[in-house]
Amino acid sequence: MRRMQKAAIVAGGLLVFAGGAFAGSDWLTGSTEAQLKTLAEIQPGLGTVMIEYGNRYTNTYYAAKGGNWDLAAYQFKEALEIQEVGETTRPGRADALKAFEKAYLTKIEAAIVAKDAAAFEKAFMAGIKGCNGCHAGQGFAYIVYELPAAPPAPLSMKP
Ligand code: HEC
Repeated sequence: MRRMQKAAIVAGGLLVFAGGAFAGSDWLTGSTEAQLKTLAEIQPGLGTVMIEYGNRYTNTYYAAKGGNWDLAAYQFKEALEIQEVGETTRPGRADALKAFEKAYLTKIEAAIVAKDAAAFEKAFMAGIKGCNGCHAGQGFAYIVYELPAAPPAPLSMKP
C-alpha cells in the first residue's frame, strides 16, 4: 500500500472515532455506534484465532527442536497474544482457554526459559492432549490437532 493511502486511512479512522464527521471508508457507514458495531462484528472469532494458534504452537515446537530458543519464546508469546484475542471476542470460552494456559502452557514456557529440551518435549506433548481435550469438551471432538511434519513458518529454526 502506498504511504499516502495509508495516511488517509489512518486519518479517516481517527476522524470516525472523533465524531463521525468524516467516514474514512466507503464501507464503514452509519452512526458512530453503527460503525463500532460493524467493526466489532468483523473481529476474529475462535476459528480464525485457532488457525494462528495452531501455527504458532507448531512453530514453537520446531524452533525449540532446532535450538532457536529465542524464536520459540517469540512464537509462544505470539500464541498467547492471539489466545487473548480469542478470550476477548469469545468470552464464553475464555475460562477454558485460561484453564488450558494454567495447566499446560506454563510448563512449556518454563521449559523454553530454561532451554530444557527434554522438559519442553514432555510439556509440549502433554499440551497437545490439552488442546484436543478442550476441543472435545467444547463440542468439537472432530477437531484434532496433530503435530505437522514441518513448521508452517518460512523461518530458520536454527539459532
Ligand atoms: C477453549 C478450549 C480450546 C483450547 C484450549 C484449544 N482450542 Fe483449538 N479450538 C477450540 C474451538 C472451540 C475450536 C472451533 C472454532 C470455532 O469455535 O469456530 C477450535 C479450533 C481449532 C482449530 C481449527 C481451526 C480451523 O478453523 O481450521 C485448530 C487448528 C486448533 N483449534 C488448534 C488448537 C491448538 C494447537 C491448541 C493447543 C495449543 C488448541 N487449539 C487449544 C477450542 C480450543
